[in-house]
Amino acid sequence: MKAVLLAGGFGTRLRPLTLNTPKPIVPIFDRPFLYHQTDLLRQVPEIDEVILSLNYQPERIAAVVGHGEEAGLRIRYLVEPNPLGTGGALKYAEPYLDGTTIVFNGDVLTEIDLPAVLERHRARAARATIVLTAVDNPSDYGLVETNEDGNVHRFLEKPNPDQITCDTINAGIYVLEPATFDRIPIETKYSIEQEYFPSLVERGETFIAHIDRGYWLDIGTPAKYLQAHRDILDGRCRSGSFTSRGDTHPTIAPDATVDPSAHIEGPCFIGQNAAIHAGVTVSAHSVIGRGVVLGSGASVHQSIIWPDSCIGAGARVNGVVIGHRCDIGAHACLGNGVVLGDGSTITAYSQIIHT
Ligand code: GDD
Ligand code: MG
Repeated sequence: MKAVLLAGGFGTRLRPLTLNTPKPIVPIFDRPFLYHQTDLLRQVPEIDEVILSLNYQPERIAAVVGHGEEAGLRIRYLVEPNPLGTGGALKYAEPYLDGTTIVFNGDVLTEIDLPAVLERHRARAARATIVLTAVDNPSDYGLVETNEDGNVHRFLEKPNPDQITCDTINAGIYVLEPATFDRIPIETKYSIEQEYFPSLVERGETFIAHIDRGYWLDIGTPAKYLQAHRDILDGRCRSGSFTSRGDTHPTIAPDATVDPSAHIEGPCFIGQNAAIHAGVTVSAHSVIGRGVVLGSGASVHQSIIWPDSCIGAGARVNGVVIGHRCDIGAHACLGNGVVLGDGSTITAYSQIIHT
């Protein structure tokens, strides 16, 4: 059995972070996000290969993920000649599939019980099964209406406010029978959400829903990316790279150096070779990447700092995401949703507050 990870998007909503780091390898703590999904796929022993469906910076992903040595599953790279949309990408993968296929959007953080979804798909002899989750506002997602038998009777991508009739949305996890790909044109832009799912409904094919009440988040914006870390730190979601103790204990890599006068408030994460100098404050829900230096008296509050960045003495960061190898000058102040791309330099005493 094959799994397809749809991961060819440009990650525009996570720019500038995704300019050099495509979404599948954006780190969750110290591990590429993609590994969270391969951890889930390993629940299904029948899966012998994961097809990464890509077009944006595939070489950067391959450089990190290789043939799947760390993922524990064989990885095949499929690079579209140009973005074919979610459905076109699936059609492009069709020659490599061997029957029932599990498909994942490349940016969903969940704890889904995949064997249970597969079992239901088989028990109902479904042509397609979609996992649903409930959200407060479905307008950014695919709205899915079901009937009392658990069959999908309407799929509406990104509904307008007046079209919202329920709170269940497409969680971006499917079990599909490739025989249904007959309607997808070859090498043509085509959407699973706008075209394929509605066509299953129109043709009356067995298209069923599996409602998952567990943790679910699309990590595709900086606010959601921060939230994902907060939720894992608080133990609301499990992730292979971090085990929450469900308390306020900080997690500090054994080879990080932390000055005894620093105040570290958990739950937080301090990666390998980080150097935390005298008088620093790191508050709860912060993630300090590998090799990051926090100069004396700096304070980091609810922020994520990617590897090899340096926060100058007395600088303050609050609610921000800082890319790789940034240099934040002494006493600078960054706050409220600021996102800095790799290699940014901020002059000492600058004040950057996102409004
Ligand atoms: N290979 C390939 N080619 N992958 C693509 C392409 C493409 O042309 N376009 C998008 N993808 C991948 C993205 O990388 C992402 O992992 C996934 O398909 C979904 O695209 P997003 O751009 O993240 O879509 P969305 O978040 O607005 O909406 C989708 O996800 C929601 C759940 O998070 C839809 O599937 C919604 O229905 C769903 O509710
Ligand atoms: Mg998304």
